[in-house]
Amino acid sequence: MRAVVQHGTGGPEVLVVEDRPEPARNPGEVLVRTEAIGVPFYETQLRSGLIPAGPPSVFGHEAAGIVLDADDPNLRGKRVVTMSYTGGAYAEVVAASQYALVPGGLSPELAVAAAVPASVALALIKTADVKAGETVLVEAASGAIGGFLARLAEQRGARVVTTAGNTEADIDHRDPDWRQQVPEGIDVVFESIGGPRAAELTAKLAPHARILAYGMLSGEFPVFPVAGLIARGITLIGFGGPDAYGKRVAADRAEALGLVADGTLPPVIDRTYPLADVAAAHARVESREGVGKVVLIP
Ligand SMILES: NC(=O)c1ccc[n+]([C@@H]2O[C@H](COP(=O)([O-])OP(=O)(O)OC[C@H]3O[C@@H](n4cnc5c(N)ncnc54)[C@H](OP(=O)(O)O)[C@@H]3O)[C@@H](O)[C@H]2O)c1
Repeated sequence: MRAVVQHGTGGPEVLVVEDRPEPARNPGEVLVRTEAIGVPFYETQLRSGLIPAGPPSVFGHEAAGIVLDADDPNLRGKRVVTMSYTGGAYAEVVAASQYALVPGGLSPELAVAAAVPASVALALIKTADVKAGETVLVEAASGAIGGFLARLAEQRGARVVTTAGNTEADIDHRDPDWRQQVPEGIDVVFESIGGPRAAELTAKLAPHARILAYGMLSGEFPVFPVAGLIARGITLIGFGGPDAYGKRVAADRAEALGLVADGTLPPVIDRTYPLADVAAAHARVESREGVGKVVLIP
């Protein structure tokens, strides 16, 4: 099969399309012929070496496709989305232990554009317990998770303040001083940009606010000195990890895909690329010129 293998760390050129043997399926896994493969931002950080990666192996974590083999023979021929923490998705065939059935009528491109980000967003919204009338700050609302977060918070009756690297959001986060523009009285922050200047948000928070720290788009984790949190009764939740919130995300996946399939949460696709153009796809994500998900077609 054709698959993309990472050779060292660096620019998009370290991702090379090669002929590889098809993966063997372990018990509990589904073997899937892929139809669409997602390219989330953190994979560019893995490829560049900002996030440490393991030895060379088939790259990628999110794919949608048709089940070739599974423990349950009834799954054969069904369309699923697969998620893997260990790679293998940038390929014509993937074996994965985490999967969800794609609701009827949802294309593989839309399914892979939604499965991880919509379920992460839904789990974040539930964990924060966003309520009607609250004011919510969604950082990087131009991204897949941020976009779903903004829509879910609005659907719950919250007032949503968004940031993005363009002028269409409430605040343009390309300005290094953007946090000064955040209005006071924020009840919930969905913190994905990170970095030491995240602490500037503390002054903008209402008493008993909740900070959900779930990303590091800037390349650094956010810093919040505890003194500023104690004084105002603020809760800081680190959201991530396969054994912590990963289970919550997996549990919310079917509900999230249902909201996507019934039109409540339409996914946004930026561009699709053939698998052979994987380097161009990574360059597109890194360019930050698009809005929505970049998808590879094997
Ligand atoms: N905790 C978890 O369970 C979990 C799970 C999945 C992903 N994540 C994390 O969630 C975050 C968002 O992921 P995603 O898949 O939604 O991303 P995505 O769809 O690939 O979008 C990337 C976004 O990043 C923004 N961005 C890139 N570099 C930035 C920078 N230096 N400063 C500010 N914004 C920047 C872009 O905004 P502009 O181009 O508009 O500037 C764009 O909105 C990532 O950090 C990812 O690692 C966490």
